[in-house]
Amino acid sequence: MPETTNIFEVMSTMRAMRRLKSDPVPDELINKILHAAQWAPSGGNTQRWRFLVVKDPEIKKKVQVYYKRLYDETVGPRYASSAPPPGSDPARYQRQHVAVKYLTDHYHEAPVWIVACLEDGDDPDRTAGSSIYPAVQNMLLAARALGLGTTLTTRHTGYGKEVDAIFGLPSGAHSYAILPIGWPMGRFGPLGRGPLKDVVYQDQWGKPYHGL
Ligand SMILES: Cc1cc2nc3c(=O)[nH]c(=O)nc-3n(C[C@H](O)[C@H](O)[C@H](O)COP(=O)(O)O)c2cc1C
Repeated sequence: MPETTNIFEVMSTMRAMRRLKSDPVPDELINKILHAAQWAPSGGNTQRWRFLVVKDPEIKKKVQVYYKRLYDETVGPRYASSAPPPGSDPARYQRQHVAVKYLTDHYHEAPVWIVACLEDGDDPDRTAGSSIYPAVQNMLLAARALGLGTTLTTRHTGYGKEVDAIFGLPSGAHSYAILPIGWPMGRFGPLGRGPLKDVVYQDQWGKPYHGL
């Protein structure tokens, strides 16, 4: 079922959807995703987030050029030479790589992007992202609940200055994630994750947790 409001079903089927149709997405649905973003927590409830809804094909294309450059420079070679992550296997990882390449080539064709930004000053510290990524996750979940496909992407930050200039960000504001949103070509489905017991400890690092 593409749409669902069961939060556990939403989370457990929220795959990165990298193949998207170019059909338009109604503003009404984008607005629901934006409301979900604003329900997220931020440190001290400061809400220094700003969200750009990007539909202009020229702006998206300009950013895609940097996104593709980063694929060619680092992401593509890394996929080609790295081992599958936990819960995956060579064939599945190869399919992931193909999907990553597909999104790279078609990034700008997603009908709507939401760019998650933060007014975090000139020299953000390592906690800065913690006040924007909860909003990003809420948007991913809301899109999934509505049957819309998207993927959390941060690759553009490799050319962050250049991309922020394309979006017209003032100094002291930075983009943290771009969500390309559209109707998915594929289906939502099970996720590839390693065994939970391998990543949960009890009391101290490395000691097994027996509650599972
Ligand atoms: C911090 C972060 C940055 C990511 N950046 C990108 C990206 O730039 N491009 C992309 O295709 N996927 C990106 N992803 C998506 C991950 O590759 C994806 O969530 C992961 O492979 C798990 O996929 P699954 O949820 O479909 O199992 C990013 C995910 C996270 C959490």
